[in-house]
Amino acid sequence: MQAMEFKRFSKEIIIILLIAFASCIAYLSYEHINILTMTIQNNYSCELKYAYQENSHRKCRFVFLDLGSNKGVQVRKVYEPWLYPKAPFLKYFDEYFGLVSRTYRRQDVCSFGFEANPRHMPRLKQIEKAYVNKGLSVRFDNYAVSNRSNDTVTVYSETNFDLDWGAGILDTAINNKKNMTKYVVPTMDLADFIRKSVVPLRPERILMKMDIEGSEFIVLPHLYKNGLLCEETITAMAIELHNWARHSFNSLLTIPSLKRLLQAQACKPTLILNLDDETYNTDVDVQPDW
Ligand SMILES: *[C@@H]1O[C@H](CO)[C@@H](O)[C@H](O)[C@H]1NC(C)=O
Ligand SMILES: *[C@@H]1O[C@H](CO)[C@@H](O)[C@H](O)[C@H]1NC(C)=O
Ligand SMILES: *[C@@H]1O[C@H](CO)[C@@H](O)[C@H](O)[C@H]1NC(C)=O
Ligand SMILES: *[C@@H]1O[C@H](CO)[C@@H](O)[C@H](O)[C@H]1NC(C)=O
Repeated sequence: MQAMEFKRFSKEIIIILLIAFASCIAYLSYEHINILTMTIQNNYSCELKYAYQENSHRKCRFVFLDLGSNKGVQVRKVYEPWLYPKAPFLKYFDEYFGLVSRTYRRQDVCSFGFEANPRHMPRLKQIEKAYVNKGLSVRFDNYAVSNRSNDTVTVYSETNFDLDWGAGILDTAINNKKNMTKYVVPTMDLADFIRKSVVPLRPERILMKMDIEGSEFIVLPHLYKNGLLCEETITAMAIELHNWARHSFNSLLTIPSLKRLLQAQACKPTLILNLDDETYNTDVDVQPDW
């Protein structure tokens, strides 16, 4: 009798030991994967890292949409914040994308910039190239952000490029056309872009900056109609409404009216940030070593 009892007892012990052993193996291999992720993470040029970083530092874990990139300064504030210490945008980048450190350079933030004025493109492409070489996911394109694709708009830009901050698409709002350079620029349907190119990346957060010289009066209602101004899609946005353009677009949109519209939706609305960061507009060179 006692021998039988002992046998059963020892069987149980063996099972417990086996479970403990299996747990140890599982734990150790988990640690090992973590260590592997850490080393791969340090090699920004290595494609493999994304496979291991599904939940922690995967590519495009966060997305920054920079609509009306101008000289690209807002995107640079994401990746080189130490160059722009007084920029009001920094605290939002910290809040939505996490703090930059010696090892974390926001490699998991993908930035998409759109600029209508083709004269900004050489500079924007230079920034893009420098950042891509550092393993960052940054892209600038020459489109006028709009409510439709496959169309063109005429953009006027100051002949004196140093004075050139915006690119207006409105004939009526430009007084002094003779003295300006004229460009025909393709349009891009922003709702379409977000649905087809951003949402499939499954980012945890999307932060959007919009400074598009009047086109916001077309684009914001378009995003709203497409149900994209919900926190689950666009987490937060900093938008500039250009009052001089309101009349030409025949728009009654104001920040309070937009807020009311968004709050009446079934979803939790996109947060409207009270922010207009016009700091460091002249910018500095990309640092070669960081
Ligand atoms: C990073 O990966 C590349 C190959 O993709 C390799 O040539 C290079 O030596 C690696 N750098 C480091 C620091 O491990
Ligand atoms: C885009 O906006 C303009 C101006 O509000 C409007 O006339 C046009 O119908 C819109 N197009 C689409 C495809 O929504
Ligand atoms: C229209 O635009 C969409 C999206 O940008 C693009 O996929 C499509 O090829 C374009 N069609 C034409 C006819 O240019
Ligand atoms: C055109 O621009 C130049 C340089 O900005 C300025 O000096 C000149 O007065 C402008 N001419 C007109 C007609 O506005």
